[in-house]
Amino acid sequence: MSGKKFYITTPIYYPSDKLHIGHTYCTVATDAMARYKRMQGCDVMFLTGTDEHGQKIQQKAEAAGVTPQQYVDHIVGGIKDLWKLMNISNDRFIRTTDDYHVESIKKIFHKLYDQGDIYKGTYKGKYCTPCESFWTESQLVDGKCPDCGREVIDAEEEAYFFRLSKYADRLVEYYEGHPDFLEPPSRLNEMVNNFIKPGLEDLCVSRTTFDWGVQVDFDPKHVVYVWIDALSNYITALGYDNEQYHDFEKYWPADVHFVGKEIVRFHSIIWPAMLMALDLPLPGKVYGHGWLKFGGDKMSKSKGNVVDPVVLVGRYGVDALRYFLLREFPFGSDGNFTNEALISRINADLANDLGNLLSRTVAMVGKYFDGVLPAGRQEDPIDGELLTMAKELRGKYEEQMEKYAFQNALIEVFKVISRANKYIDETAPWVLAKDEANKPRLATVLYNLLECLRITSSLLIPFMPESAEKARVQIGASAADFTWEKAGAFGVLPADVAVQKGEALFPRIDMEKELAALAEAQSAPKQDQPEKKEEPAAAPITIDEFAKVEMTVCKILSCKNVPKSEKLLKFQLDDGSGQTRQILSGIAKYYKPEDLVGKTVVACTNLPPRKMMGQMSNGMLLSAEKDDALHLLMLDDKIPAGAKLC
Ligand code: ME8
Repeated sequence: MSGKKFYITTPIYYPSDKLHIGHTYCTVATDAMARYKRMQGCDVMFLTGTDEHGQKIQQKAEAAGVTPQQYVDHIVGGIKDLWKLMNISNDRFIRTTDDYHVESIKKIFHKLYDQGDIYKGTYKGKYCTPCESFWTESQLVDGKCPDCGREVIDAEEEAYFFRLSKYADRLVEYYEGHPDFLEPPSRLNEMVNNFIKPGLEDLCVSRTTFDWGVQVDFDPKHVVYVWIDALSNYITALGYDNEQYHDFEKYWPADVHFVGKEIVRFHSIIWPAMLMALDLPLPGKVYGHGWLKFGGDKMSKSKGNVVDPVVLVGRYGVDALRYFLLREFPFGSDGNFTNEALISRINADLANDLGNLLSRTVAMVGKYFDGVLPAGRQEDPIDGELLTMAKELRGKYEEQMEKYAFQNALIEVFKVISRANKYIDETAPWVLAKDEANKPRLATVLYNLLECLRITSSLLIPFMPESAEKARVQIGASAADFTWEKAGAFGVLPADVAVQKGEALFPRIDMEKELAALAEAQSAPKQDQPEKKEEPAAAPITIDEFAKVEMTVCKILSCKNVPKSEKLLKFQLDDGSGQTRQILSGIAKYYKPEDLVGKTVVACTNLPPRKMMGQMSNGMLLSAEKDDALHLLMLDDKIPAGAKLC
């Protein structure tokens, strides 16, 4: 087992300012699996990251009045912070805006085009003339443009297509030869019956209606379809077609991709077909996990039914949440999150079963033996059942973990913990302690309990790394006693083991009080916003660099709100050139459009034109910002339009 490579991935997340526990679910599961494999001595590569291109991101950035790059840069920091909070041990983090990834995508697209797997064709769709935007039928709102609400027309545009249809037979053949490729098995039937049997169509893999993506290098008005860009992250992050990393040969193919069930289609049809086209081996497995629901619906920001992991970690600690997520719901099925279920699980399993076993055992070694067990043992047949269970635990746990059945693996661990608690009642150490002659028997009972704690808590490392470590210290186990190898043996602790009393790992929670407090915390979104970071000082620039910026005095001819945008105002400006200049600016929150007409302002006029909410913006109005207040820079009206700032 030792040294065997194990490559595991999460999906790469869309940048969102509020990832919820549904997102956390997959990452925690991946982390538990990665830690388990590391414990076994595997050479693990655990990859996660962010999926930062596409029209949606571009639109969000426009609505926020910033560039897409600024938008994603701001959000990705928050996602990384969340993974730190959740104690996620990823080895690599990829952003699809990373230069090396972009470089690889260009090469992959080019290669597939050169070999005929990508070809130029015509994409038919709906077109909104005023917005200059293509839409698919399903994107329309009541048959109209989702941006401006106006009528759309049937239209065509040139686009590149991937010959997905060519791979249909090979895909089915592959599934038949590798029945474990996609799990749970029900997901495979769904793919074959719903998508492959009705006939796979070639996939449109380029867009021309927005530009926030990887440019097709031989046809720059096209950007690569986000899913081609995103799926490839699993190989570019290892250095495929780039010089950033050099471990593609070592880790590819992935052992498992963990993904939510709604993106199984992309991972089990498009991705394998792409790999076939690239002549690369396919991943060992795609595991499509279920959804966390809240109030019966899939938790999602757009539905507003999300639960914030930051609030829960703040109240119960990261390990309690990690444990709950993987113990409460079978990984392949949907599960309904409730605060009651979370608190009950913490109280029953962590505070009562595990917490009590640990604190009672350590307290008894303290009370009866001053914290150090004496040598001298006295076995009893009553020990047999517990010892057998403890000795067999690692095998049972491993069997479940290898099937990604986290819930069952934890159930096995907690069976031993419960049995050990029962063993305390059966052996009644407090009765044994009354008679000096029973001391060897008492020491045996306590040693057996400490060994059970050592085995169970070391197997909990992948799920609750911090608490497992605290338990290790309390029971007096060394790091060397707390390994995968030693979890398969009984009698590892030294005969004269010394315990260290510590704090309760998981204090019991008052359900009623806590439910009320939680309801309040979850409805107060401001409370857990990350602290505002200090603005970094601007890097120095040369006078030549400064001189490149063209700043022109403009008069505002007209100013209007942009439909469907809360942030944007549309300005028509006299810039002294004799032609009207249109600029969009994200300042609607601060000004009424009619108050600005006639004012003299400054615009940066040599920026490349940009499309926002389907409308062109030629430049940027200058404003000044401090402490969340924004002021458009206004000049003396005597300064003529067209004057340059110098
Ligand atoms: O799909 N319960 O990104 P994403 C369980 N960028 N899992 C959930 C969930 C919930 N309520 N809500 C979301 C994407 N997820 C793409 C992936 S991979 C090449 C590109 C899961 O941010 C979801 O199922 O929308 C997915 O696996 C992951 O969070 C990221 O979702």
